[in-house]
Amino acid sequence: MTPAGSLLSAHGLRKAYGPTTALDGAEFSIHPGEVVAVMGPSGSGKSTLLHCLAGIVRPDAGEISYNGQELTGMTDTALSALRRSEFGFVFQFGQLVPELTCVENVALPLRLNGARRKDAERTALTWLERLEVDDVRGKRPGEVSGGQGQRVAVARALATSPRVVFADEPTGALDSLNGERVMELLTDAARSANAAVVLVTHETRVAAYSDREIVVRDGRSRDMERAV
Ligand SMILES: Nc1ncnc2c1ncn2[C@@H]1O[C@H](COP(=O)(O)OP(=O)(O)OP(=O)(O)O)[C@@H](O)[C@H]1O
Ligand SMILES: [Mg+2]
Repeated sequence: MTPAGSLLSAHGLRKAYGPTTALDGAEFSIHPGEVVAVMGPSGSGKSTLLHCLAGIVRPDAGEISYNGQELTGMTDTALSALRRSEFGFVFQFGQLVPELTCVENVALPLRLNGARRKDAERTALTWLERLEVDDVRGKRPGEVSGGQGQRVAVARALATSPRVVFADEPTGALDSLNGERVMELLTDAARSANAAVVLVTHETRVAAYSDREIVVRDGRSRDMERAV
């Protein structure tokens, strides 16, 4: 069953790694433009849930529905095409390509989707401006600070106008001031583009930027209706 109005939803997800149960009947749903924080202790299954929702890891059982399509029934080729065109990713350590400049890093997913270099770099530059890091456009990731690198990674995730941004501890490697600024820029940019954000985090301070929280414990998720 897909909850009404949801863009991405999952039901009864199970995933085991050998003897370890990572997901044990997890549920999830997110609406277009919504920011959902996935919280819970270390090892509870947060990253596994995110990887399943993003079509990176195949669950052992359960259903994942994206925009009316069933992810679990799709081929690897179809899944990777879907990821490239509809999803954006930000991870804990940015994971930029070290040999490319910052503007080339942001332009890369656009190039992979078939954009010409000049157009891709023009779009990339506008995203670097929005994330307030256009001054490092010509530098390589090794030559910028952690906070600047994460902003470049956020610019790269948003440059293709994804419908869903998956962020796994996107500020985990930053101090609190830089972390808050990155969160502010990420959620503002995503909301104005009507992109949904699945945000995995340990930190209550980071989760405060979300519309709703889901807590994962022992591979099972629970929706926390936040009183506002
Ligand atoms: N590739 C893997 N191979 C074997 N076990 C794994 C793998 N990935 C995750 N696990 C196990 O599955 C469980 C859930 O892991 P997961 O990475 O989803 O937790 P998490 O909530 O993201 O933790 P953290 O907050 O530390 O990142 C853990 O017990 C972990 O050891
Ligand atoms: Mg994790």
